[in-house]
Amino acid sequence: MIWPQIFATLLLSLEISHATQTKDVVNFTELFGYSPRGSLKFPELAAYDGFHSETHYVTTSDGYILALFRIPLQDTCPEDDDKLPILFNHGLYLSGDDCILPGPGKSHCYIYSDNCYDVWIPNNRGNRYSRNHTTLNPDKNPEFWNFAWDDMASKDLPAIIDYILKVTGKKQLTFVGHSQGVATLILLCAKQPEYNDKINVGFGLSATAWLDHSRFLLIPVEAGLSAVADGVNNLTNAEFLPTGGLVQTAGTVLCGLSEVEYPFCSFILFAALGFNKFNIKPDVLKALPGHVPAGTSLKDFIRWGQIRKNGFTEYDYGLVGNIKAYGKLKPPVFNLSAVSMKWIFLASLNDYVGDPRDIKRLTHVLSNAEMCVLNDTKFGHLDFLYADSLSVQITPKVLSYLETGNYKCDTNTASTL
Ligand SMILES: *[C@@H]1O[C@H](CO)[C@@H](O)[C@H](O)[C@H]1NC(C)=O
Ligand SMILES: *[C@@H]1O[C@H](CO)[C@@H](O)[C@H](O)[C@H]1NC(C)=O
Ligand SMILES: *[C@@H]1O[C@H](CO)[C@@H](O)[C@H](O)[C@H]1NC(C)=O
Ligand SMILES: *[C@@H]1O[C@H](CO)[C@@H](O)[C@H](O)[C@H]1NC(C)=O
Repeated sequence: MIWPQIFATLLLSLEISHATQTKDVVNFTELFGYSPRGSLKFPELAAYDGFHSETHYVTTSDGYILALFRIPLQDTCPEDDDKLPILFNHGLYLSGDDCILPGPGKSHCYIYSDNCYDVWIPNNRGNRYSRNHTTLNPDKNPEFWNFAWDDMASKDLPAIIDYILKVTGKKQLTFVGHSQGVATLILLCAKQPEYNDKINVGFGLSATAWLDHSRFLLIPVEAGLSAVADGVNNLTNAEFLPTGGLVQTAGTVLCGLSEVEYPFCSFILFAALGFNKFNIKPDVLKALPGHVPAGTSLKDFIRWGQIRKNGFTEYDYGLVGNIKAYGKLKPPVFNLSAVSMKWIFLASLNDYVGDPRDIKRLTHVLSNAEMCVLNDTKFGHLDFLYADSLSVQITPKVLSYLETGNYKCDTNTASTL
């Protein structure tokens, strides 16, 4: 199908025009060139970085075959440790690569592994590692692409959590999620409350729920698309931003050659991911186009436009569909009263997607949640994954909480929002 590519092009040009008007464009020097880490898939990249990994496959109740990576306990770690496994859940059109991409000592999953945690890294249906199904062919059957993150919440995540608990023999796990990867667990615990007891604590990096204050330019465009697509749902059964697709090919071409191309490269990456000033170092930036974006369904993308438009609500089927599904013209707000698990949200003022004001609202709606706003006012949406200072600003808070039950938030900004 060609039309998702056309939309992608349109969105890119909008984002590029936005980015060129932004004053704080990045430091363009010494940034581009080839990175051997760019083209490696998760298992090869982990091996390249000196980490042992495993690939597991988990089949969902509706037939999607998901790749679940694991970085098992390192040989030097005590085996009888009572530490719980850590599940790292990626965000919209990303993949498990996010948690190893910056390299040893600088990535979520490597740091947790170095601290003797058993680390599990799922991939949502439809991304580069989970384009597989027991009966549907993603290249031939458009129905394969008939899903949004609501399905990841109701079917992918419970299958993954149960699989990890079964293999490890543990009763609980620790959750670290980014962006859409946070929303999925919140929705799962709201709809299937027995999952609250399976999570020790959830760390929400740049949580997305309400998007009222989101400055990510693509969000209003998604909302516009969603208005068009309402009621014509089969039109959205298409792959979007796949690995090797338009954005990534352009990213690879434009990032590979010379310094002059840096602006193009940065705009293209940020078109897919939201424009920010950022703290990503050249070695990581060079590897990014080989991993980002990792693909999802067009429906999932548009679903976030609905959320922007309607709030943190059920799926919008259009007027007629909503009356059939909910007995109302508009989809109801998610009922989150059953979410009882402990949440710690880490937020940043420079996050163009998960705005701290929206995350504060989410914190108030949940019964056992708190938010910490980082003291670094330049930290952006992708910095939660790729920033050079992640090992100073993010992972120590996670590890400290897991070891001691406490962590230090560097600001009290949250109370003044
Ligand atoms: C899809 O899953 C089946 C069953 O596990 C496996 O035999 C097949 O190789 C997979 N296909 C791809 C493209 O990964
Ligand atoms: C939409 O897709 C569903 C199954 O995915 C199919 O049953 C239905 O006939 C399709 N509708 C149209 C209008 O093509
Ligand atoms: C939300 O769900 C709870 C049960 O989990 C129920 O008691 C409550 O009435 C619901 N609230 C609304 C507004 O539907
Ligand atoms: C901000 O927090 C980091 C740790 O997350 C700390 O190292 C740094 O000193 C803090 N900076 C300021 C200005 O408080």
